[in-house]
Amino acid sequence: MPAPQHDNKALWGGRFEGHPERFTQEFGASLPIDNRLWREDIDGSKAHARMLARQGIISNQDAEDIVAGLDRVAASIEAGTFVWDIDDEDIHMAIERTLTEDIGAAGGRLHTGRSRNDQVATDTRLWAKRASAKLAGELLALRQSLIDVAADNPDAVMPGYTHMQRAQPILFAHHMLAYSWMFARDFTRVVAAHASADVLPLGSAALAGTTYPLDRSYVAEQLGFSRISQNSLDAVSDRDFLLDLDYACSVAMMHLSRLAEELVYWSSGEFGFITMSDQFSTGSSIMPQKKNPDFAELIRGKSGRVVGDLTALLVTMKGLPLAYNKDMQEDKEGVFDAVDTLTACLHVMRGMITTMRVNEARMREAAHGGFMAATDLADYLVGTGLPFREAHEVVGRIVLACEKEGRTLQSLTLEELKEFSDRFGEDARDAVDIDRVVDRRTTVGGTSHSSVAEQLASAREQLAADKETASRL
Ligand code: ARG
Repeated sequence: MPAPQHDNKALWGGRFEGHPERFTQEFGASLPIDNRLWREDIDGSKAHARMLARQGIISNQDAEDIVAGLDRVAASIEAGTFVWDIDDEDIHMAIERTLTEDIGAAGGRLHTGRSRNDQVATDTRLWAKRASAKLAGELLALRQSLIDVAADNPDAVMPGYTHMQRAQPILFAHHMLAYSWMFARDFTRVVAAHASADVLPLGSAALAGTTYPLDRSYVAEQLGFSRISQNSLDAVSDRDFLLDLDYACSVAMMHLSRLAEELVYWSSGEFGFITMSDQFSTGSSIMPQKKNPDFAELIRGKSGRVVGDLTALLVTMKGLPLAYNKDMQEDKEGVFDAVDTLTACLHVMRGMITTMRVNEARMREAAHGGFMAATDLADYLVGTGLPFREAHEVVGRIVLACEKEGRTLQSLTLEELKEFSDRFGEDARDAVDIDRVVDRRTTVGGTSHSSVAEQLASAREQLAADKETASRL
């Protein structure tokens, strides 16, 4: 068995006579995953060292050496010259070992009153706060692009669907804004995940707290945490703040996936509602005519893995007794993946939305099929005093006749309408005019031009308010 490259007795080896086998050493290591927490680990250690000195637990000189040494570690990681060694097990060990090799005994004092259990919880919370702030910004950008595409296409009328069957005509802008509201709620969920991560665990030590007179509030202040944990067992052993983030990511991915699905079929030859830009399409290696919406499909596909990340962590956590258990080392890979996946998908979706061509004529053509003015025609008869049930029956017969003859409701003359009911008058054809059908839906949140204009204004207002919130994260 090859011996580890360096002796990890330096860190926790006092109790040990042998080394783990190479394979188990690698099996137990989280360094390949958690190395991305290096900034957070260094920030946390610097704050801890300064606090130790302020409390008189270590000397000022030691704290200065530690901080300067950690800055050198950060610089070498940034420069790519840091030596990553799997024998370090995790990012905390890697940084502390390198620091101690650099500054000597002072490095060994950094871990006073601290455990990797409260250290990893602190690093991960710091990371989760930064990740949610970044996601919040991406969500704002996507909402802006949805609002823009709605504003740029104010008159495009398209079919609205239920059961994937044409139901009633709507404004394309209304459809785009629907998604902007979903992503506005995703923003709220991401901000909530930020708040749940915003609690400092450091000072909980391994599980029970510590005998050193730590000033936890001072550490919190330095690291920008707004609260400190109130129970050391809870602080080192829960990962619900990551579940909150996973959940926020999962719901946002589900929304992205639905929008992606619409882009996929809208860009098909049968629909042709949009033309995806070449930038976001791929060809086929065999069929020269193909232009595939691969990126929309990938977003739809990737939603599954993010839901998987949420599920995996829930299952990892569900049977664990208090306090820290090594199982919890499995927490990070999934949440990193969830955040990376969502970040990338938000970016790609924004690109697709801002570059797609909206084919207004095709949408309008489709809006004239499917007898989508039938409800309004029935309402017209109701306006003449006919009970709704009877009106429904009359219009049902009109639709059946049109269907047999391949006609649209809009093509019927007044004389033809009168064959079904003598209640139809001059204004009956107005009832089925697609633009008027749309503009009659004037309820707040409805699809009329006037309602959508108001909706657009409130979507912009909400966006501005959320930008404010994001700037404070
Ligand atoms: N690499 C570990 C993790 O990610 C750090 C905490 C280790 N603590 C321990 N008691 N083994 O969970």
